[in-house]
Amino acid sequence: MRKKVSIVGAGNVGATAAHWIADKELADVVLVDVIEGVPQGKGLDLLEAMPIAKRDVHVSGSNDYALTANSDVVIITAGIPRKPGMSRDDLLHTNFKIMSDVVQKVVAQSPESILIVVSNPLDAMAQTAYRQAGFNRERVIGMAGVLDSARFRAFIAEELQVSVENVTAFVLGGHGDTMVPLARYSTVAGIPITELIAPERLEQLVQRTRDGGAEIVKHLKTGSAFYAPSAATVEMAEAILKDKKKILPCAAYLDGEYGISGYYIGVPCKLGAAGLEQIVEIKLTAEEDAALKKSAAAVKELCAVIGV
Ligand code: NAI
Ligand code: 2OP
Repeated sequence: MRKKVSIVGAGNVGATAAHWIADKELADVVLVDVIEGVPQGKGLDLLEAMPIAKRDVHVSGSNDYALTANSDVVIITAGIPRKPGMSRDDLLHTNFKIMSDVVQKVVAQSPESILIVVSNPLDAMAQTAYRQAGFNRERVIGMAGVLDSARFRAFIAEELQVSVENVTAFVLGGHGDTMVPLARYSTVAGIPITELIAPERLEQLVQRTRDGGAEIVKHLKTGSAFYAPSAATVEMAEAILKDKKKILPCAAYLDGEYGISGYYIGVPCKLGAAGLEQIVEIKLTAEEDAALKKSAAAVKELCAVIGV
């Protein structure tokens, strides 16, 4: 039997994630949204593309969660995105209400599922989903680090004119202005980028990564990025659905790791069939550790506002 992925929020990120999943033939897909007709129309449109793409997956859409029953993975992108001048944190109250409502409905239909949270502000929304779902932390994971790292990788590849396949990078911390790109653990064909890019230039690429979401919002004006975010989300879903044991930077609920307890924050995670199978603890310098703690403090502040 094919795997089943439901995506709540059939907007830019959700619908594009459905596209990537179908094109990779990873699972049957169900799109859900509050707007009548949108998930149905996008689902049917994608289904009709499958004979051309030569992919045997079923795609459908609904306003009703019944269709999502017994999903293996549920991706939650429901909420409002950023507009120019807004920070991710400006979305807090609206998306908190949406996330709380969505998670209850998802869990009622798919009590064994693994949740991948995408809605912003990411770390606080992952924490909301974790509290509302009542699942163990292995089954509620947030997407941000894969996206932030992909941005950093793209900028490094462009800078050095090398294949993106040669570039690995790690961005940890919260998905916000306090994110922590780890230049020391970023490499090109195994060579640390600190040996290939001068410190001042590297700092510019790091800052561009931190501002990566805002850079796209500034161009689009009516919304935020969705191609790279959906591709990042699907990389996580694929690692889970195929039990790949892949190490990716994801937002996970920390219970003492990195000296942080009780909050979601981006750290290296091993993803497999059980969801979050391991949090990998790497050695940080005092400066990196302080940056991660600062990022965690910002997440803690947001979580306090919504009481999660
Ligand atoms: P969008 O506006 O295109 O889509 C959001 C969809 O959610 C809309 O179709 C809307 O009708 C739906 N929705 C709203 N309330 C709902 C509810 N109660 N139940 C079901 N559906 C509901 O927005 P986009 O661009 O797809 O972004 C979605 C979210 O993901 C935003 O919060 C955005 O900030 C976040 N995001 C997070 C990223 C990350 O790295 N974690 C990256 C990109 C976006
Ligand atoms: C991004 O980083 C808006 O969080 C979203 O593009």
